[in-house]
Amino acid sequence: MEFTTVLCFLVSFISIILLNLLIKSFSFFFPSKVNTQLPLPPGTMGWPYIGETFQMYSQDPNLFFATKIKRYGSMFKSHILGYPCVMISNPEAAKFVLNKAQLFKPTFPDSKQRMLGKQAIFFQQGAYHANLRRLVLCTFTTEAIKNIFSDIESIAQNCLKSWEGKLITTFLEMKTYTINVALLSIFGKDETLNAEVLKRCYYTLERGYNSMPINLPGTLFHKAMKARKELADMVARTISKRRKTKQEHNDLLGSFMSEKAGLTDEQITDNIIGVIFAARDTTATVLTWIVKYLGENPSVLEAATEEHESILRCKEESGEEMGLNWSDTKNMPVTSRIIQETLRIASILSFTFREAIEDVEFQGYLIPKGWKVLPLFRNIHHSPDNFKEPEKFDPSRFEVAPKPNTFMPFGNGTHACPGNEIAKLEMLVLLHHLITKYRLAIWFITKHNLLVTLFGVCSDERHVPKLECFE
Ligand code: HEM
Ligand SMILES: *[C@@H]1O[C@H](CO)[C@@H](O)[C@H](O)[C@H]1NC(C)=O
Ligand SMILES: *[C@@H]1O[C@H](CO)[C@@H](O)[C@H](O)[C@H]1NC(C)=O
Repeated sequence: MEFTTVLCFLVSFISIILLNLLIKSFSFFFPSKVNTQLPLPPGTMGWPYIGETFQMYSQDPNLFFATKIKRYGSMFKSHILGYPCVMISNPEAAKFVLNKAQLFKPTFPDSKQRMLGKQAIFFQQGAYHANLRRLVLCTFTTEAIKNIFSDIESIAQNCLKSWEGKLITTFLEMKTYTINVALLSIFGKDETLNAEVLKRCYYTLERGYNSMPINLPGTLFHKAMKARKELADMVARTISKRRKTKQEHNDLLGSFMSEKAGLTDEQITDNIIGVIFAARDTTATVLTWIVKYLGENPSVLEAATEEHESILRCKEESGEEMGLNWSDTKNMPVTSRIIQETLRIASILSFTFREAIEDVEFQGYLIPKGWKVLPLFRNIHHSPDNFKEPEKFDPSRFEVAPKPNTFMPFGNGTHACPGNEIAKLEMLVLLHHLITKYRLAIWFITKHNLLVTLFGVCSDERHVPKLECFE
């Protein structure tokens, strides 16, 4: 090794030690309220800097977590993506973390914050967060989504029609459905918006979201940032048009723009982009899994079919109001359990991130300030302590309510999903029409795609979906 290299090493070593001393003496002057002599949670931190990132990504992440939980219990430390962290698979502990906003704040990589918008709801705390949350929640209350029920139904029917007889990639088509519903709840039937351009920008944004955050011409990240700018301009134009016409609008943009909301245009834009992001892929992913599970479980499909056909039969007999209405969706227990079981087994948000705002004492351990804390939803949903035979798809398990805090597909506490009602509603409406009017042939499932063909039901013979699986 050359002398200069050795010197470099030495210098950096010494500066790290000095920095450490400096930090320690600072904490001497500002002592923590918590006993910092407490032990850290059990676990290993892996290599310096890279920690256990490689282990987590090189093996199946499920296996990584399962092995850790077996060895260290439901709360263990690790080091991933450059951060020390504590992972939590104990239901009560997860709830504690999600509900103690004064101890744990949301945390996202800077690149993701820039892409969605720094002022978007997910990243916020305190009064600003509470204000945003109130505004979002009042657009997605049961009362509010009742009003757009028939529009959601038309969107569902139009989507299904457009798939008839074609071989479709289920996830892509479901994303079209869910973005159309999201745009309806955000912009109402605002004609001024160019939905097609907006969807195209969204597609680019989404492809860049999980790419390496390198902002150089040609990279996916760069393209995504450009698409973000274009989206922001579109929202800004819609805002200024609405200001001119001074019309009242009963949608999310209307509620963000109200005088009382007190938001700047930039804050509005960041949150519109954020809500579309939160609403689209999540719901489309769940719908795609549901189609797969219905294909694989003929008896479940049969029970669902019976439920929906009996709703239709009742309507025919009463001879009055035809067509589905909002209260019908409250009366679909079988399909609701299919949705719940899919949310559990697919656990599409495997975990979320928080960061300790200060040193926290928890169950006899120290969670140091600045450490990331990850409630592991997927592991909670897949633990045999919480769900018998967790790997089995069995909607009937939800005939009995799950134990408290063991089922958190929409999170819990301060940042719990404000869209859960509309997500469930749009899934029920689409499934009702899919199940009663079509039989589906599932052609194949690859790792990423579920390809499906829909046929209109024309004979009394009902075919069970064919399923071929190519992993
Ligand atoms: C089945 C579909 C969905 C699932 C599984 C889901 C799941 C979640 C979860 C787990 C969180 C909490 C994240 C955390 O605590 O860090 C969350 C937050 C959020 N979701 Fe959903 N979501 C879905 C659909 C939707 C829809 C349709 C909307 C549209 C309104 C939406 C809007 C949001 C927003 C705005 C937040 C952030 C709330 C906050 O930070 O206060 N989600 N979602
Ligand atoms: C909805 O439809 C059901 C029949 O399925 C009917 O009994 C009920 O009165 C309808 N509700 C409304 C609000 O129209
Ligand atoms: C949080 O969990 C508790 C207990 O399981 C539940 O009663 C409550 O409704 C949950 N809150 C949200 C917002 O999901």
